[in-house]
Amino acid sequence: MKAIGSRKSRRSFLADPLTLDELALLLWSTQGVRAIKHEAAVLRMVPSAGCRHPFETYLAVQRVEGLNKGIYRYLPLDHSLVLEKTAGDDIATRLVAATHGQRFAGEAAVTFIWTAIPSRVEWRYAEASYKVIAIDAGHVCQNLYLACEAIGAGTCAIAAYCQGLVDELIGVDGDSEMVVYLAPVGKVR
Ligand SMILES: Cc1cc2nc3c(=O)[nH]c(=O)nc-3n(C[C@H](O)[C@H](O)[C@H](O)COP(=O)(O)O)c2cc1C
Repeated sequence: MKAIGSRKSRRSFLADPLTLDELALLLWSTQGVRAIKHEAAVLRMVPSAGCRHPFETYLAVQRVEGLNKGIYRYLPLDHSLVLEKTAGDDIATRLVAATHGQRFAGEAAVTFIWTAIPSRVEWRYAEASYKVIAIDAGHVCQNLYLACEAIGAGTCAIAAYCQGLVDELIGVDGDSEMVVYLAPVGKVR
């Protein structure tokens, strides 16, 4: 009740880093695995139409204890991270440019960047795929909002971004996989 009651979009972050445990909680809350029914049905902490789970979670890490700056991808089955590419100090500038100048995107400790892989959904839902992908994304980001509130952090959903720049930042082709949503996260007062 406390997390739901205090949830709001937060665009001002402290300079404090997130701990790895805090980041793990946020990843578990948003895309963590709850149960494996069989190879084609992996249940997660969020619902997904037809259990298709079309998302990959990339992280633009700036201040997380124990992690170098860079672009990481979450591996839900292992609850682990893979480093996609190291990043220099220009990561903040690139995040701001990729979000049409939204400064708080560059000030986050870590920015969640969710991509969709439409083919996971299209074989089953055809033209309704884009509706269910959009609905699924809402569940994921709402869990991030609530989990952030529980650890003294905050986030703000971002859908205003430049498709080409943000796809390029994390290294996806924008065709078989493309960014659909971002959420900068940081500690808050
Ligand atoms: C789909 C979606 C896209 C959003 N995109 C942005 C964005 O690009 N930039 C931003 O500052 N806020 C963005 N927001 C946050 C909304 O502005 C915010 O949720 C709204 O003003 C209500 O405020 P609250 O979240 O504090 O209740 C987005 C929210 C949603 C749900």
